[in-house]
Amino acid sequence: MDIFVIQGGKPLEGTVRTAGAKNSVLPILAAALLTEETLSLENVPDLSDVRTMLRILEMLGAEVEHTGPNRLDIRSRPSAQPVAPWELVRKMRASFEVFGPLLGRRGRAEVSYPGGCSIGVRPVDAHIRGFEALGAKIRTQEGYVVAEAPPEGLPGGEAYLATSSGSSVGATRNVMMAAVLARGRSVLTCAACEPEVVDLADCLNAMGAKVHGAGSPTIEIQGVEALHGAKHSVIPDRIEAGTYVVAGAITGGRVRVEGCRPEHLTALLDALYRSGVGIERGRDWIETQPRDIHKERLRPTDITTQPYPGFPTDLQAQWMVLMTLADGVSVITERIFPDRYMHLAELLRLGARIRRQETAAVVEGVASLSGASIMASDLRASAALVLAGLVSKGQTQVHRVYHIDRGYERIEERLENMGGSIRRESVAVEGQSAPG
Ligand code: EPZ
Repeated sequence: MDIFVIQGGKPLEGTVRTAGAKNSVLPILAAALLTEETLSLENVPDLSDVRTMLRILEMLGAEVEHTGPNRLDIRSRPSAQPVAPWELVRKMRASFEVFGPLLGRRGRAEVSYPGGCSIGVRPVDAHIRGFEALGAKIRTQEGYVVAEAPPEGLPGGEAYLATSSGSSVGATRNVMMAAVLARGRSVLTCAACEPEVVDLADCLNAMGAKVHGAGSPTIEIQGVEALHGAKHSVIPDRIEAGTYVVAGAITGGRVRVEGCRPEHLTALLDALYRSGVGIERGRDWIETQPRDIHKERLRPTDITTQPYPGFPTDLQAQWMVLMTLADGVSVITERIFPDRYMHLAELLRLGARIRRQETAAVVEGVASLSGASIMASDLRASAALVLAGLVSKGQTQVHRVYHIDRGYERIEERLENMGGSIRRESVAVEGQSAPG
């Protein structure tokens, strides 16, 4: 088990390059199941979630060849059974997005219900409704969702993908991938507009699909006979980029995040502007301006998480950390995953003043935070706890950093390169350092 040992108090100074988007590459890898030809991908991030998805795809008959740093070729042979087992699906919810490609290409899919996680129940009812709208017969048995297409293939249809929280990113992508090889035309309404939906559609169209309207709430798909191989470069990870921008803002340093898409971070940039953080930006970079965090405290700034282009739920924890040191009271409202507050209790251990009010967290800014041992929980909250350690007085130990490795490429190296005092240590068991 690894921990991070962080010495707080130093402003970050330097440049960090954004990696490829985790939440884009995972469904794009699944899209390789839609053809027997080679899908060549660039800008693939080096993450444990990517390795998990590749293991699942290899179980489903795919062959993977790593062709260079952050590059791979993947080719799917429909030899194996179209079954994704609970042992792997339970590790990563995104693996449920092999369902659409299996159903679309092989006419059958059997995938374990993904479990819940620390941010919520994570149902898949919108996915299932979407597959049924395309003409699939769905049943559940022994914890698996099983779908059969008619012998002549999915007819296609109109799928309404709204959930109680609005659009669903995963359902939009999963149903899109089932529809691209349908016999007829499909329309997805109340579709998610996230950049990671658009990136998948761009990759599918490069493979010969006919997807129109991705990025808007209505996506039209004309089914085609077959898809072919393609080359695709994964978009930059807007959540990773946003995390490092907040790292610069919270430590009062000059951090330049390069290779990103500022237009994917409008909601964060607006909130930073409202809070008084100095920001400069260009076509593919964002830079925080230096600030004395004790003399120039930030203005308290409320945010509410919403589907894109609203404030991303994946940056909610990072924003909460920033607001723990603001000069006043901020209200953070989580509308996507109402229970996504595991980081709150850990921040209280650092001296933050926050209280839950149903789906909101009321953050009363304090002058400083003090280091302590804290526990990572979900991927994004864990990164936020690292940011909190960077600005807390004294030493902070963040435990269970495997959560962070799922979605951030070597975060400790990137922060160390910018002057952050952070090192990874192996502990034999919780709370003790490994011998030797
Ligand atoms: C994607 O998850 C991302 N994961 C999440 O990032 C992100 O937080 C989320 O979208 C919202 O932006 C990947 O892309 C791999 P949803 P997804 O379906 O697709 C409810 C990270 O840290 N819902 O858009 O699972 C659901 O419970 C991860 O990188 C249903 O009710 O999210 C939630 O309240 C965490 N029924 C809301 O919709 C369904 O069938 C949005 O979920 C599906 C979802």
